[in-house]
Amino acid sequence: KTRYIYVNPQDPEQNAIDLAAEVIRRGRLAAFPTETVYGLGGNGLDPEAVRSIFAAKGRPGDNPLILHIAATEEAERLVKTVTPNAAALMQRFWPGPLTVVLEKSDLVPLVVTGGLNTVAIRLPDSLVARRLISAAGVPVAAPSANTSGRPSPANAKAVLSDLDGKIDMVLDAGPCRIGVESTVVDCTTPVPTLLRPGGITLEMLLEVLGEVEAAPALSGLHTTVPRSPGMKYTHYAPSAPMRLVEATDSAMPVILERYIAEAQATGQVVGALVSGETAERLPDGVVSAVYGPRSRPDMIAARLYDCLRQFDNTPVDVIFAEGIADKGLGLAVMNRMRKAAGYDIIRE
Ligand code: TXA
Ligand code: MG
Repeated sequence: KTRYIYVNPQDPEQNAIDLAAEVIRRGRLAAFPTETVYGLGGNGLDPEAVRSIFAAKGRPGDNPLILHIAATEEAERLVKTVTPNAAALMQRFWPGPLTVVLEKSDLVPLVVTGGLNTVAIRLPDSLVARRLISAAGVPVAAPSANTSGRPSPANAKAVLSDLDGKIDMVLDAGPCRIGVESTVVDCTTPVPTLLRPGGITLEMLLEVLGEVEAAPALSGLHTTVPRSPGMKYTHYAPSAPMRLVEATDSAMPVILERYIAEAQATGQVVGALVSGETAERLPDGVVSAVYGPRSRPDMIAARLYDCLRQFDNTPVDVIFAEGIADKGLGLAVMNRMRKAAGYDIIRE
């Protein structure tokens, strides 16, 4: 049985924090909120606890976990060296939705890193997360608290729908502010490499670093060897096949209308993942999930995973998704939508 406890995000109740910290110290698992998505936390220095994280999620063992810390200095004993680029990123974006990859120290068990000699570290901004990590007194290994391959959980209800009965506890502090995962940057290369776009935008990284390499897999071509093991797995996918339309603002409604009409004409039940603007002009019979205004990638990011999960409750034969501009948070949103679509992209 999974114990569910509500916590105030602004002023977390100490007894709730202590109970969850105790779960983690005992080598068991507690899901907790961060500003990005909910995490499934366990003692990151305890190989048995880490193995149980992989088991609860059904996650392949070669897809490494992020170690969460509560203060920047705690990174030092987990890595060989904090490179100047990493130090600059930590200084500017921690606490916050940024994960830094560095060479790991001997303290970090190989099961955390999926056998790699590098480790991913993040200092979240969420007060509940930081209080919990402090109280646990260990680095907290935490992947997103979803079943592997499902959309990440941006609220506690989504955590329970995947993991109820499989973990000891869930701390619920309401919906996550950002809604997509942290930005992952590999700082072991001379020019840092963006492995996963997220809450910290590419534009923000460039301000600090001057130069950032984008991992080839981010282009959507999906051919080269993945730099981050997480890149090779299908992610965030709803149960029905999804097709992503990428087009200009003016062409978008026309293209969507045509594909939806064609699918309906063959008797398919059509789902649509769309902006508020587009939702207003959808034909009858379309099952829509509305992610927000087209011009607000921040609002779209916050609603995206819930929208993807909505299609599990109302079965559809195919989902057409409306792409947005690749700028700012839009890059993270589009990266998740492309993965959810299995890279089935309609470009005209
Ligand atoms: O926002 C987030 O980052 C959330 C919250 C809970 O903090 N966590 C999260 O964890 O998204 P997860 O496990 O779902 O995603 C971690 C990503 C994966 O794509 C993984 O492959 C990559 O980070 N990663 C972890 N360690 C790595 C390493 N040593 N080298 C390259 N990529 C790594
Ligand atoms: Mg994940």
